[in-house]
Amino acid sequence: MIDYEAFYATNTRSAERSLIRELLKVSRTGKAMISFAGGFPDPATFPVAELKEVTQDVLATGAALALQYGPTEGDPNLRDELVKWMAKDGITTRRDNILVTTSSQQALDLVGKVFLDPGDVVVVELPSYLGGLQAFRAYGAEMVGVIQDDDGIDTNLLADALLRLRRQRRRPKFLYAVPDFQNPSGITWTRQRRERLLVLAREFECLVVEDNPYRELRFSGTAPPPIFALDGEARTIYLSTFSKTLAPGLRIGWIAGPEPVIAQCVTVKQAMDLCSPSFTQAIAAALLRRGDLLRRLPDTVTLYGRKREVMLEALEREMPAGVTWTRPEGGLFLWVRLPDGMDTGAMLREAVEEGVMYVPGQPFHADGGGRNAMRLNFSYPSESEIRDGIARLARLVTRHLPAPVHTIHRRGTSVSD
Ligand SMILES: Cc1ncc(COP(=O)(O)O)c(C=O)c1O
Repeated sequence: MIDYEAFYATNTRSAERSLIRELLKVSRTGKAMISFAGGFPDPATFPVAELKEVTQDVLATGAALALQYGPTEGDPNLRDELVKWMAKDGITTRRDNILVTTSSQQALDLVGKVFLDPGDVVVVELPSYLGGLQAFRAYGAEMVGVIQDDDGIDTNLLADALLRLRRQRRRPKFLYAVPDFQNPSGITWTRQRRERLLVLAREFECLVVEDNPYRELRFSGTAPPPIFALDGEARTIYLSTFSKTLAPGLRIGWIAGPEPVIAQCVTVKQAMDLCSPSFTQAIAAALLRRGDLLRRLPDTVTLYGRKREVMLEALEREMPAGVTWTRPEGGLFLWVRLPDGMDTGAMLREAVEEGVMYVPGQPFHADGGGRNAMRLNFSYPSESEIRDGIARLARLVTRHLPAPVHTIHRRGTSVSD
Protein backbone atom coordinates (compact mmCIF):
# COMPACT_ATOMS: atom_id res chain seq x y z
CA MET A 1 0.00 0.00 0.00
CA ILE A 2 1.55 3.31 -1.06
CA ASP A 3 1.51 6.08 1.52
CA TYR A 4 0.30 8.81 -0.86
CA GLU A 5 0.13 11.37 1.92
CA ALA A 6 3.89 11.25 2.31
CA PHE A 7 4.10 12.64 -1.24
CA TYR A 8 1.68 15.54 -0.75
CA ALA A 9 3.09 19.06 -0.55
CA THR A 10 3.16 20.44 2.98
CA ASN A 11 0.55 23.07 2.20
CA THR A 12 -2.03 20.61 0.89
CA ARG A 13 -1.38 18.01 3.57
CA SER A 14 -2.89 20.32 6.17
CA ALA A 15 -5.73 21.55 3.91
CA GLU A 16 -9.19 20.85 5.20
CA ARG A 17 -12.10 20.10 2.90
CA SER A 18 -14.79 22.74 2.90
CA LEU A 19 -17.51 21.59 5.26
CA ILE A 20 -20.02 23.26 2.97
CA ARG A 21 -18.99 21.30 -0.09
CA GLU A 22 -19.06 18.07 1.91
CA LEU A 23 -22.55 18.89 3.14
CA LEU A 24 -23.68 19.67 -0.38
CA LYS A 25 -22.91 16.07 -1.34
CA VAL A 26 -25.46 14.95 1.26
CA SER A 27 -27.94 17.51 -0.01
CA ARG A 28 -27.72 16.02 -3.49
CA THR A 29 -28.72 12.53 -2.38
CA GLY A 30 -32.36 13.40 -3.04
CA LYS A 31 -33.60 12.79 0.52
CA ALA A 32 -36.41 15.09 1.59
CA MET A 33 -33.79 17.50 2.84
CA ILE A 34 -34.32 21.21 3.24
CA SER A 35 -30.99 22.87 2.76
CA PHE A 36 -30.08 26.28 4.08
CA ALA A 37 -26.44 25.25 3.71
CA GLY A 38 -25.29 26.12 0.19
CA GLY A 39 -24.90 29.48 -1.46
CA PHE A 40 -26.95 28.42 -4.48
CA PRO A 41 -28.95 30.93 -6.50
CA ASP A 42 -32.56 29.99 -7.23
CA PRO A 43 -32.51 28.21 -10.65
CA ALA A 44 -35.62 30.25 -11.56
CA THR A 45 -33.27 33.23 -11.94
CA PHE A 46 -31.14 31.57 -14.63
CA PRO A 47 -31.79 33.30 -17.96
CA VAL A 48 -32.28 30.05 -19.86
CA ALA A 49 -34.15 31.45 -22.87
CA GLU A 50 -31.66 34.28 -23.31
CA LEU A 51 -28.75 31.85 -22.94
CA LYS A 52 -30.20 29.64 -25.69
CA GLU A 53 -30.47 32.57 -28.08
CA VAL A 54 -27.08 33.98 -27.28
CA THR A 55 -25.33 30.60 -27.42
CA GLN A 56 -26.76 29.89 -30.87
CA ASP A 57 -25.70 33.32 -31.99
CA VAL A 58 -22.16 32.93 -30.64
CA LEU A 59 -21.83 29.58 -32.40
CA ALA A 60 -23.30 30.90 -35.64
CA THR A 61 -21.22 34.04 -35.88
CA GLY A 62 -18.20 33.68 -33.59
CA ALA A 63 -17.38 29.98 -33.17
CA ALA A 64 -13.82 30.33 -34.46
CA LEU A 65 -12.93 32.61 -31.56
CA ALA A 66 -15.37 31.34 -28.93
CA LEU A 67 -14.13 27.75 -29.16
CA GLN A 68 -10.46 28.70 -29.42
CA TYR A 69 -7.90 29.43 -26.67
CA GLY A 70 -8.24 33.03 -25.63
CA PRO A 71 -5.97 35.67 -24.10
CA THR A 72 -5.12 35.02 -20.44
CA GLU A 73 -6.41 38.52 -19.59
CA GLY A 74 -9.85 37.49 -20.85
CA ASP A 75 -12.08 38.19 -23.85
CA PRO A 76 -11.56 41.89 -24.74
CA ASN A 77 -15.29 42.30 -25.49
CA LEU A 78 -16.18 40.97 -22.05
CA ARG A 79 -13.60 43.20 -20.38
CA ASP A 80 -15.11 46.22 -22.13
CA GLU A 81 -18.57 45.18 -20.93
CA LEU A 82 -17.20 44.76 -17.39
CA VAL A 83 -15.92 48.34 -17.45
CA LYS A 84 -19.52 49.43 -18.13
CA TRP A 85 -20.98 46.98 -15.60
CA MET A 86 -18.80 48.37 -12.80
CA ALA A 87 -19.47 51.97 -13.83
CA LYS A 88 -23.05 51.59 -12.49
CA ASP A 89 -21.42 51.34 -9.01
CA GLY A 90 -19.30 54.43 -9.45
CA ILE A 91 -16.20 52.46 -10.41
CA THR A 92 -14.08 54.11 -13.08
CA THR A 93 -11.70 51.66 -14.65
CA ARG A 94 -10.31 50.51 -18.00
CA ARG A 95 -10.00 47.26 -19.89
CA ASP A 96 -6.30 46.95 -18.94
CA ASN A 97 -7.20 47.02 -15.27
CA ILE A 98 -9.34 43.90 -15.59
CA LEU A 99 -8.49 40.19 -15.61
CA VAL A 100 -11.27 37.66 -16.22
CA THR A 101 -11.05 34.65 -13.90
CA THR A 102 -12.70 31.26 -13.65
CA SER A 103 -15.03 32.85 -11.11
CA SER A 104 -14.17 34.58 -7.86
CA GLN A 105 -12.78 31.52 -6.17
CA GLN A 106 -9.96 31.44 -8.72
CA ALA A 107 -9.45 35.16 -8.15
CA LEU A 108 -8.99 34.46 -4.42
CA ASP A 109 -6.51 31.71 -5.21
CA LEU A 110 -4.65 34.04 -7.59
CA VAL A 111 -4.49 36.79 -4.98
CA GLY A 112 -3.09 34.25 -2.51
CA LYS A 113 -0.54 32.96 -4.99
CA VAL A 114 0.60 36.43 -6.03
CA PHE A 115 0.87 38.01 -2.58
CA LEU A 116 1.28 35.41 0.15
CA ASP A 117 4.35 33.69 1.52
CA PRO A 118 4.11 31.19 4.38
CA GLY A 119 3.76 33.09 7.66
CA ASP A 120 2.33 36.25 6.06
CA VAL A 121 -0.60 37.88 7.81
CA VAL A 122 -4.00 38.59 6.27
CA VAL A 123 -6.54 40.55 8.32
CA VAL A 124 -10.10 39.23 7.96
CA GLU A 125 -13.55 39.91 9.38
CA LEU A 126 -14.96 37.72 12.16
CA PRO A 127 -16.74 35.87 10.66
CA SER A 128 -15.33 35.83 7.13
CA TYR A 129 -15.95 33.98 3.84
CA LEU A 130 -14.80 30.40 4.32
CA GLY A 131 -13.54 30.04 0.74
CA GLY A 132 -11.33 33.11 1.21
CA LEU A 133 -9.84 31.71 4.42
CA GLN A 134 -9.21 28.38 2.68
CA ALA A 135 -7.59 30.03 -0.33
CA PHE A 136 -5.21 32.15 1.77
CA ARG A 137 -4.37 29.38 4.21
CA ALA A 138 -3.35 27.20 1.26
CA TYR A 139 -0.36 29.56 0.87
CA GLY A 140 0.58 29.22 4.53
CA ALA A 141 -0.79 32.63 5.54
CA GLU A 142 -1.98 33.38 9.05
CA MET A 143 -5.44 34.93 9.44
CA VAL A 144 -5.93 37.62 12.05
CA GLY A 145 -9.63 38.19 12.70
CA VAL A 146 -11.35 41.42 13.73
CA ILE A 147 -14.90 41.46 15.06
CA GLN A 148 -17.65 43.13 13.05
CA ASP A 149 -20.88 44.66 14.27
CA ASP A 150 -24.00 45.69 12.34
CA ASP A 151 -22.00 48.42 10.53
CA GLY A 152 -19.18 46.18 9.30
CA ILE A 153 -15.73 45.55 10.71
CA ASP A 154 -15.06 47.40 13.99
CA THR A 155 -12.41 49.82 12.74
CA ASN A 156 -11.28 50.73 16.28
CA LEU A 157 -10.50 47.08 16.93
CA LEU A 158 -8.90 46.91 13.49
CA ALA A 159 -6.61 49.82 14.41
CA ASP A 160 -5.71 48.01 17.66
CA ALA A 161 -4.95 44.80 15.79
CA LEU A 162 -2.76 46.62 13.26
CA LEU A 163 -0.87 48.36 16.05
CA ARG A 164 -0.32 45.08 17.86
CA LEU A 165 1.02 43.54 14.68
CA ARG A 166 3.28 46.54 14.09
CA ARG A 167 4.78 46.12 17.55
CA GLN A 168 5.58 42.54 16.55
CA ARG A 169 7.13 43.95 13.35
CA ARG A 170 4.48 42.22 11.26
CA ARG A 171 2.77 44.03 8.43
CA PRO A 172 -0.32 42.31 6.94
CA LYS A 173 -0.09 41.91 3.18
CA PHE A 174 -3.74 42.83 2.84
CA LEU A 175 -7.05 43.38 4.59
CA TYR A 176 -9.70 41.07 3.14
CA ALA A 177 -13.22 42.52 3.16
CA VAL A 178 -16.64 41.36 1.94
CA PRO A 179 -18.42 44.67 2.56
CA ASP A 180 -21.81 44.11 0.87
CA PHE A 181 -24.23 41.55 2.39
CA GLN A 182 -21.32 39.56 3.61
CA ASN A 183 -21.10 35.84 3.27
CA PRO A 184 -21.76 34.54 5.93
CA SER A 185 -23.27 37.29 8.11
CA GLY A 186 -25.34 39.34 5.63
CA ILE A 187 -23.80 42.50 7.14
CA THR A 188 -23.08 45.60 5.00
CA TRP A 189 -20.33 48.04 5.93
CA THR A 190 -21.29 51.70 6.26
CA ARG A 191 -19.50 54.26 4.11
CA GLN A 192 -17.72 55.54 7.21
CA ARG A 193 -16.23 52.13 7.97
CA ARG A 194 -15.08 51.78 4.35
CA GLU A 195 -13.36 55.15 4.48
CA ARG A 196 -11.72 54.39 7.81
CA LEU A 197 -10.47 51.06 6.46
CA LEU A 198 -8.73 52.91 3.63
CA VAL A 199 -7.19 55.39 6.07
CA LEU A 200 -5.85 52.51 8.18
CA ALA A 201 -4.63 50.63 5.11
CA ARG A 202 -2.65 53.72 4.12
CA GLU A 203 -1.30 54.30 7.64
CA PHE A 204 -0.21 50.68 8.05
CA GLU A 205 0.83 50.26 4.41
CA CYS A 206 -1.34 47.28 3.50
CA LEU A 207 -3.34 46.49 0.41
CA VAL A 208 -7.10 45.93 0.51
CA VAL A 209 -8.82 42.99 -1.19
CA GLU A 210 -12.53 43.74 -1.66
CA ASP A 211 -14.57 40.65 -2.54
CA ASN A 212 -17.99 41.73 -3.74
CA PRO A 213 -20.21 39.04 -5.31
CA TYR A 214 -23.56 40.21 -3.88
CA ARG A 215 -23.58 43.96 -4.50
CA GLU A 216 -26.35 43.90 -7.12
CA LEU A 217 -28.70 41.93 -4.86
CA ARG A 218 -29.98 44.79 -2.68
CA PHE A 219 -33.60 44.60 -1.43
CA SER A 220 -33.70 47.72 0.73
CA GLY A 221 -31.67 50.68 2.01
CA THR A 222 -29.13 52.68 0.04
CA ALA A 223 -25.83 51.36 -1.24
CA PRO A 224 -22.58 52.85 0.08
CA PRO A 225 -19.93 53.04 -2.67
CA PRO A 226 -17.61 50.06 -3.11
CA ILE A 227 -14.30 50.45 -1.23
CA PHE A 228 -12.62 50.31 -4.65
CA ALA A 229 -14.54 53.42 -5.76
CA LEU A 230 -13.63 55.31 -2.55
CA ASP A 231 -9.94 54.47 -2.84
CA GLY A 232 -8.05 57.42 -4.29
CA GLU A 233 -4.65 55.74 -4.37
CA ALA A 234 -5.16 52.39 -6.11
CA ARG A 235 -4.57 50.34 -2.96
CA THR A 236 -7.62 48.14 -3.46
CA ILE A 237 -8.01 45.00 -5.55
CA TYR A 238 -11.64 44.35 -6.45
CA LEU A 239 -13.11 40.88 -7.02
CA SER A 240 -16.53 40.14 -8.44
CA THR A 241 -18.43 37.39 -10.21
CA PHE A 242 -21.54 36.59 -12.24
CA SER A 243 -22.21 33.52 -10.09
CA LYS A 244 -25.02 35.19 -8.18
CA THR A 245 -26.45 37.45 -10.87
CA LEU A 246 -26.23 35.17 -13.93
CA ALA A 247 -25.35 31.55 -13.17
CA PRO A 248 -22.50 29.95 -11.20
CA GLY A 249 -22.22 27.19 -13.81
CA LEU A 250 -20.68 29.62 -16.28
CA ARG A 251 -17.81 30.27 -13.83
CA ILE A 252 -17.20 33.89 -14.80
CA GLY A 253 -15.54 36.26 -12.38
CA TRP A 254 -12.97 39.01 -12.57
CA ILE A 255 -10.33 41.05 -10.79
CA ALA A 256 -10.07 44.81 -11.22
CA GLY A 257 -6.97 46.54 -9.92
CA PRO A 258 -3.80 48.47 -10.62
CA GLU A 259 -2.18 47.50 -13.92
CA PRO A 260 1.03 46.08 -12.38
CA VAL A 261 -1.02 43.80 -10.11
CA ILE A 262 -3.19 42.66 -13.03
CA ALA A 263 -0.04 41.94 -15.06
CA GLN A 264 1.38 39.85 -12.21
CA CYS A 265 -1.91 37.95 -11.88
CA VAL A 266 -1.87 37.28 -15.64
CA THR A 267 1.61 35.76 -15.41
CA VAL A 268 0.56 33.53 -12.54
CA LYS A 269 -2.76 32.55 -14.16
CA GLN A 270 -0.95 31.40 -17.30
CA ALA A 271 0.53 28.52 -15.32
CA MET A 272 -2.84 27.73 -13.70
CA ASP A 273 -5.15 27.35 -16.70
CA LEU A 274 -3.79 29.41 -19.65
CA CYS A 275 -7.12 31.20 -19.89
CA SER A 276 -10.69 31.03 -18.58
CA PRO A 277 -13.15 29.38 -21.00
CA SER A 278 -13.54 31.51 -24.14
CA PHE A 279 -16.99 30.09 -24.81
CA THR A 280 -18.67 31.19 -21.59
CA GLN A 281 -16.90 34.54 -21.78
CA ALA A 282 -18.31 35.15 -25.27
CA ILE A 283 -21.78 34.22 -24.00
CA ALA A 284 -21.51 36.52 -20.98
CA ALA A 285 -20.24 39.39 -23.16
CA ALA A 286 -23.22 38.98 -25.50
CA LEU A 287 -25.72 38.88 -22.61
CA LEU A 288 -24.21 42.06 -21.16
CA ARG A 289 -24.21 43.78 -24.55
CA ARG A 290 -27.92 42.98 -24.99
CA GLY A 291 -28.65 44.28 -21.48
CA ASP A 292 -30.21 40.97 -20.40
CA LEU A 293 -28.54 40.90 -17.01
CA LEU A 294 -29.57 44.37 -15.95
CA ARG A 295 -33.09 43.79 -17.26
CA ARG A 296 -33.53 40.60 -15.22
CA LEU A 297 -31.98 41.86 -12.04
CA PRO A 298 -35.09 43.51 -10.51
CA ASP A 299 -37.00 40.18 -10.68
CA THR A 300 -34.12 38.36 -8.98
CA VAL A 301 -33.93 41.00 -6.27
CA THR A 302 -37.71 40.84 -5.70
CA LEU A 303 -37.59 37.04 -5.45
CA TYR A 304 -34.75 37.01 -2.92
CA GLY A 305 -36.18 39.93 -0.97
CA ARG A 306 -39.45 38.01 -0.60
CA LYS A 307 -37.62 34.84 0.50
CA ARG A 308 -35.63 36.80 3.05
CA GLU A 309 -38.90 38.16 4.41
CA VAL A 310 -40.37 34.66 4.67
CA MET A 311 -37.28 33.47 6.56
CA LEU A 312 -37.33 36.45 8.93
CA GLU A 313 -41.04 35.90 9.65
CA ALA A 314 -40.46 32.19 10.26
CA LEU A 315 -37.55 32.87 12.61
CA GLU A 316 -39.67 35.40 14.50
CA ARG A 317 -42.53 32.90 14.80
CA GLU A 318 -40.59 29.74 15.58
CA MET A 319 -37.34 30.46 17.39
CA PRO A 320 -37.19 30.36 21.19
CA ALA A 321 -36.10 33.38 23.25
CA GLY A 322 -32.34 33.95 23.35
CA VAL A 323 -31.83 33.28 19.63
CA THR A 324 -30.90 36.33 17.49
CA TRP A 325 -30.26 36.87 13.79
CA THR A 326 -29.16 39.54 11.32
CA ARG A 327 -31.60 41.33 8.96
CA PRO A 328 -29.59 41.67 5.73
CA GLU A 329 -30.54 44.34 3.21
CA GLY A 330 -29.48 42.06 0.36
CA GLY A 331 -27.51 38.97 -0.61
CA LEU A 332 -28.26 35.33 0.05
CA PHE A 333 -27.54 34.70 3.74
CA LEU A 334 -28.42 35.56 7.27
CA TRP A 335 -26.57 34.69 10.43
CA VAL A 336 -28.22 33.17 13.49
CA ARG A 337 -26.75 33.22 16.98
CA LEU A 338 -27.85 30.77 19.63
CA PRO A 339 -27.29 31.33 23.34
CA ASP A 340 -23.65 31.12 24.49
CA GLY A 341 -22.44 27.62 25.14
CA MET A 342 -24.54 26.01 22.38
CA ASP A 343 -22.63 24.23 19.63
CA THR A 344 -24.13 24.27 16.14
CA GLY A 345 -21.40 21.92 14.86
CA ALA A 346 -22.37 19.26 17.39
CA MET A 347 -26.06 19.70 16.48
CA LEU A 348 -25.59 19.32 12.73
CA ARG A 349 -25.85 15.54 12.45
CA GLU A 350 -29.15 15.62 14.30
CA ALA A 351 -30.32 18.45 12.05
CA VAL A 352 -29.56 16.33 8.97
CA GLU A 353 -31.55 13.46 10.50
CA GLU A 354 -34.43 15.92 10.92
CA GLY A 355 -34.09 16.84 7.24
CA VAL A 356 -32.65 20.33 7.56
CA MET A 357 -29.14 21.60 6.92
CA TYR A 358 -27.20 24.74 7.75
CA VAL A 359 -23.54 25.64 8.00
CA PRO A 360 -22.13 25.90 11.54
CA GLY A 361 -20.48 29.21 12.37
CA GLN A 362 -17.10 28.02 13.56
CA PRO A 363 -15.37 27.41 10.18
CA PHE A 364 -16.06 31.05 9.25
CA HIS A 365 -14.18 32.28 12.30
CA ALA A 366 -10.43 32.70 11.89
CA ASP A 367 -10.10 32.71 15.71
CA GLY A 368 -11.97 29.43 16.26
CA GLY A 369 -15.04 31.23 17.68
CA GLY A 370 -18.60 31.22 16.35
CA ARG A 371 -19.53 27.82 17.80
CA ASN A 372 -22.98 29.08 18.75
CA ALA A 373 -23.69 30.56 15.29
CA MET A 374 -24.99 29.23 11.98
CA ARG A 375 -25.31 30.55 8.44
CA LEU A 376 -28.66 30.20 6.72
CA ASN A 377 -29.18 30.61 2.98
CA PHE A 378 -32.58 31.84 1.83
CA SER A 379 -32.11 32.06 -1.96
CA TYR A 380 -32.29 28.36 -2.84
CA PRO A 381 -35.12 26.80 -0.80
CA SER A 382 -38.72 27.55 -1.79
CA GLU A 383 -40.90 29.69 0.48
CA SER A 384 -42.69 26.63 1.89
CA GLU A 385 -39.35 24.87 2.45
CA ILE A 386 -38.15 27.94 4.31
CA ARG A 387 -41.20 27.83 6.60
CA ASP A 388 -40.88 24.04 7.18
CA GLY A 389 -37.11 24.14 7.54
CA ILE A 390 -37.10 26.93 10.11
CA ALA A 391 -39.79 25.10 12.11
CA ARG A 392 -37.61 21.94 12.10
CA LEU A 393 -34.57 23.96 13.08
CA ALA A 394 -36.41 25.76 15.87
CA ARG A 395 -37.56 22.41 17.34
CA LEU A 396 -33.96 21.20 17.29
CA VAL A 397 -32.64 24.40 18.86
CA THR A 398 -35.33 24.30 21.55
CA ARG A 399 -34.37 20.70 22.42
CA HIS A 400 -30.74 21.74 22.83
CA LEU A 401 -31.29 24.92 24.81
CA PRO A 402 -29.38 24.94 28.07
CA ALA A 403 -31.55 24.05 31.04
CA PRO A 404 -33.36 27.14 32.32
CA VAL A 405 -31.59 28.91 35.13
CA HIS A 406 -33.83 28.84 38.19
CA THR A 407 -33.22 31.79 40.42
CA ILE A 408 -33.99 31.09 44.03
CA HIS A 409 -34.23 34.11 46.24
CA ARG A 410 -32.93 33.58 49.72
CA ARG A 411 -32.59 36.46 52.08
CA GLY A 412 -31.95 38.97 49.34
CA THR A 413 -29.24 36.99 47.57
CA SER A 414 -29.82 34.96 44.44
CA VAL A 415 -28.42 31.55 43.74
CA SER A 416 -28.47 30.15 40.26
CA ASP A 417 -28.50 26.45 39.53
C1 LIG B 1 -17.63 36.26 -0.68
C2 LIG B 1 -17.49 35.25 -1.77
N1 LIG B 1 -16.41 35.27 -2.55
C3 LIG B 1 -16.24 34.39 -3.55
C4 LIG B 1 -17.19 33.41 -3.80
C5 LIG B 1 -16.93 32.43 -4.91
O1 LIG B 1 -17.86 32.55 -5.92
P1 LIG B 1 -17.59 32.07 -7.39
O2 LIG B 1 -16.30 31.32 -7.43
O3 LIG B 1 -18.76 31.23 -7.75
O4 LIG B 1 -17.53 33.32 -8.20
C6 LIG B 1 -18.34 33.34 -3.01
C7 LIG B 1 -19.34 32.28 -3.24
O5 LIG B 1 -20.26 32.05 -2.53
C8 LIG B 1 -18.50 34.29 -1.97
O6 LIG B 1 -19.57 34.29 -1.18
